[in-house]
Amino acid sequence: MSIRLGVLISGTGSNLKAILDAIDAGRLDAQVALVVASRPSAGGLAFAAAAGVETLSMSPEVYAADPLAADSVIAHELQKRQVDYVVMAGYMRMVRAPLLQAFPNRVVNLHPALLPSFQGAHAIEQAWKRGVKLTGVTVHFANEVYDQGPIIVQRAVAVEEGMSREELEAAIHAVEHVLYPEALQLLAQGRVHVLDDARVQIDPA
Ligand code: GRF
Repeated sequence: MSIRLGVLISGTGSNLKAILDAIDAGRLDAQVALVVASRPSAGGLAFAAAAGVETLSMSPEVYAADPLAADSVIAHELQKRQVDYVVMAGYMRMVRAPLLQAFPNRVVNLHPALLPSFQGAHAIEQAWKRGVKLTGVTVHFANEVYDQGPIIVQRAVAVEEGMSREELEAAIHAVEHVLYPEALQLLAQGRVHVLDDARVQIDPA
C-alpha cells in the first residue's frame, strides 16, 4: 500500500531529503503530499521544491499568537490532502491537540537518542557529555507527553573511543537517514500496531 505523508520541518531537512530519496529509489512506498515548514527560511524547503512537492510555510508570529490555531491550520491542510501520516523531521515546535486529535497515533517523530534517555532538544550533546558508550536513534509516535509516545523502532550508535561531538552527530544523522525511511516503510506495509499498553508490535515481514 502506498501512504500519503505530510512532513513537518524547521531546519536543514536532511531527513526530508532521505525520505524523498527513498521514495525515488523505490525503498519507500509513499508520496509526500505536503511539506510544512515552521519558518519560511527552513533550508529543507529547497528539497521539497526540487522534488516538486507542495509546501506551506508558517510564520513564527502565527505560532506566537495562538499555537493551537496554528496546529488547526496545519491539521486542516493535511486532512485536505488526505494525508495518512504526519512525519516530524527536525520540527522544532510542539505538536498540539488539534494535530494529535486529527491524526491519533499517526504523528511520527524522530529523536536522536535511545528514548527514554536524553529527552529534549539537546539529546546528542547531552549523551556525548555524559560519556555514554552507546546511544542511537528512536522513531516513535508523538502524543501529548513530549518524547514519550509509543516507540516504533530504535537503532544503536556506538560512541567510539576519541569520537568528537561533531563526529557523533554525523554518525547519528547517518543512521537517521536509513532508519526513518525504513520505519515509514513499516507503516506503509501496515505492519505497525500500537497495543493497549502503548507498546508497539511490528508484524514480521
Ligand atoms: C535530527 O537530528 C532529528 O533527530 C532531530 O532534528 C534533526 C533534524 O535534522 N529531531 P534535519 O532537519 O532532518 O536535517
